[in-house]
Amino acid sequence: MALATTTTSTSLDFGPAVALSCRECGARYELGPSFACIECFGPLEIAYDFGRVTREQISQGPANIWRYRSLLPVPVDVASKPNTEPGWTRLVKAGNLARELGLRSLHVKDDSGNPTHSFKDRVVAIAVEAARNFGFHTLSCSSTGNLAGAVTSAAARTGLDACVFIPADLEQGKIVMASVYGGKLIGIDGTYDDVNRFCSELIGDELGDKWGFVNVNLRPYYAEGSKTLAYEIVEQLGWRIPEQIVIPVASGSQLTKIDKAFKELIALGLVEDTPYKIFGAQAEGCSPVSAAYKAGHDVIRPVKPDTIAKSLAIGNPADGPYVLDIARRTGGGVEDVTDPEIVEAIHLLARTEGIFAETAGGVTVGVLRKLVESGRIDPDAETVVLNTGDGLKTLDAVSDQARPTAVIRPSLDAFRAVVA
Ligand SMILES: Cc1ncc(COP(=O)(O)O)c(C=O)c1O
Ligand SMILES: [Zn+2]
Repeated sequence: MALATTTTSTSLDFGPAVALSCRECGARYELGPSFACIECFGPLEIAYDFGRVTREQISQGPANIWRYRSLLPVPVDVASKPNTEPGWTRLVKAGNLARELGLRSLHVKDDSGNPTHSFKDRVVAIAVEAARNFGFHTLSCSSTGNLAGAVTSAAARTGLDACVFIPADLEQGKIVMASVYGGKLIGIDGTYDDVNRFCSELIGDELGDKWGFVNVNLRPYYAEGSKTLAYEIVEQLGWRIPEQIVIPVASGSQLTKIDKAFKELIALGLVEDTPYKIFGAQAEGCSPVSAAYKAGHDVIRPVKPDTIAKSLAIGNPADGPYVLDIARRTGGGVEDVTDPEIVEAIHLLARTEGIFAETAGGVTVGVLRKLVESGRIDPDAETVVLNTGDGLKTLDAVSDQARPTAVIRPSLDAFRAVVA
């Protein structure tokens, strides 16, 4: 494992971010392309010195993640020269789905509307600013699919080189999205966890001071991008934290940072300190966090993934233990659904709300349904469920049920025969 370094230069501009701090022992380091604590090998995250931040300031910002720049590790003037403009995706009031499930108030945060059709554009946008700060010319990542497309697209926009790594057996939609923007796409014969381990080796051996691996040596910066999902949900609800939220879990980074964002908003006095429950959602075929939660364990036992929810197929999730802590602390939970339940949930969301989710969205909606049916979600509490990706990238999940109702000659009789 590459160790944290303390090298940095005074010309870096990370806005309100002041240091890297170890999530385990609290040791602090100067801002640099580091991700693990020298003292205890714990993960590093960004520490801030927020100035005064007001709702008015935020609401006057652009309709993208840069409206929250004063809460992110990015230069203060980032909005005037943005690398990409993800975020401010729609929060859909899902009355039809709520009625079908028996919930009083439900919203879908639909992140399929981002530039490359997943929430990964948020995290990559922050990582690009870090790569620029550190003078990296190549942007890289280990990816379950969506991240690879977000990285190659952002690299194309910002004039960086891209070289991204994926498991070779991903869905065609993910492969097309990752290759169409140019750059190098390397398929690895193995699982995501093999890809990730290989990238860590590359960093340790030769590339760590040359390439920005957004989710490895730039991970502390990258991860902060997920906070913007929480900021947006709160602002779009009229500056309220939802009482219950269902979030997909692959590495667990997104869920961890949504919790961090709620806590920041409370600490800054931007929102009332109301209780919230966080629920993690996994596919049964890759459910190491859900299994540990159900068994009452603190340690995650890695698994070999086997599920159609390939974007969530991380068998050894880096932030898994933190997901367990958050689920338990907030009174939420972690649950999983089978592949047929994922497909059913994709159809349910499409049929009720007109939203076509990728398999990760099938996982969250399927888990939401399971939580309601088992009485673990309060039907009267304000609930938000995330859809983090676009169904067009995982067509295979539903294509065997997709066909014309009928194929007919263009005649009135033929039409009447099939549409009674
Ligand atoms: C569509 C989608 N949703 C959710 C996630 C989960 O992200 P995390 O690794 O932050 O848990 C991923 C990760 O690749 C993803 O592609
Ligand atoms: Zn430490």
